[in-house]
Amino acid sequence: MLLLPLLFLAVIFPGGDHEDAFQGPTSYHVIQISTFANSTWAQNQGSGWLDDLQILGWDSDSGTAIFLKPWSKGNFSEEEVTEMEDLFRAYFIEFTRRVQDYVSEFQLEYPFVIQGIAGCELHSGKSTGSFLRVALGGLDFMSVKNHSCAPAPEGGSRAQQFCALISQYHGIWGIIDTLLSETCPRYLLGVLDAGKAELQRQGKPEAWLSRGPSPGPGRELLVCHVSGFYPKPVWVMWMRGEQEQPGTQQGDVLPSADWTWYLQATLDVTAGEVAGLSCRVKHSSLGDQDIILYWGHPTFIGLIFLAIIVPSLVLLICLALWFLRRW
Ligand SMILES: *[C@@H]1O[C@H](CO)[C@@H](O)[C@H](O)[C@H]1NC(C)=O
Repeated sequence: MLLLPLLFLAVIFPGGDHEDAFQGPTSYHVIQISTFANSTWAQNQGSGWLDDLQILGWDSDSGTAIFLKPWSKGNFSEEEVTEMEDLFRAYFIEFTRRVQDYVSEFQLEYPFVIQGIAGCELHSGKSTGSFLRVALGGLDFMSVKNHSCAPAPEGGSRAQQFCALISQYHGIWGIIDTLLSETCPRYLLGVLDAGKAELQRQGKPEAWLSRGPSPGPGRELLVCHVSGFYPKPVWVMWMRGEQEQPGTQQGDVLPSADWTWYLQATLDVTAGEVAGLSCRVKHSSLGDQDIILYWGHPTFIGLIFLAIIVPSLVLLICLALWFLRRW
């Protein structure tokens, strides 16, 4: 009966019945990370995500949900929220107990970690699929396929044993089906509607250039930083005039705490090739006004000239005048 608690992974807050098509996120999933250190110590972490944006957390000490956004409840009433929290609290306690009971039968060895992910996807307001996967010790263990338990090859005989055991409980698959294919899309639509203003906003990127650590003698690493943009899709490229530089290396798009994204694009060039290079950024928030930053732009030289040379000259002239007067 190991999966009986697991299925609650997929319990999602029911949401509204809106049929609008949305831009922005198209999926919702919950993540569970359960750590079993020894026979007496275990910890459960839970969270809820719209694509890669976290909207829910779980405080395992108090057994309550953490609503990271004012609209994280979708259109759920306070009673329903409390009900769901009670359910998750009971689930985590039961899950921990069940796993600890099965440690010897499944020949598990402390310490180990169980990870679970379950959720659903939408397209044009219609449910287009759902998923539930479990990993043990960082390796795929089982997933739900065609309404039944599919052991992962990496799970070995233990996963097969688990699926054989759980498949006898026919009722479970009906419940999982309902949660994943009805409850989840309903919640997703509700929360997408409630969070519309924030999820569909446009955040303009800022960009700046810097020099990275030299990749070798006579070489330079040019770095173009782009931050503060939302939504995630962005195009960043080193250019020479209108020509894209194929050596441009993009890093990962990294999250910032304020729900915007950061990306850097680097270019490894010989010192002689540096002149005339620019970094170009395209993003939906910019319309067709791309950001273009030139490496070693004349403005910088001009500013240095103004900041150092001009005051020095003025000082020199003053000194000269002062001496002339005295003599
Ligand atoms: C179990 O693990 C916890 C956390 O690592 C540790 O603090 C505790 O002493 C351990 N208990 C036993 C009985 O080994």
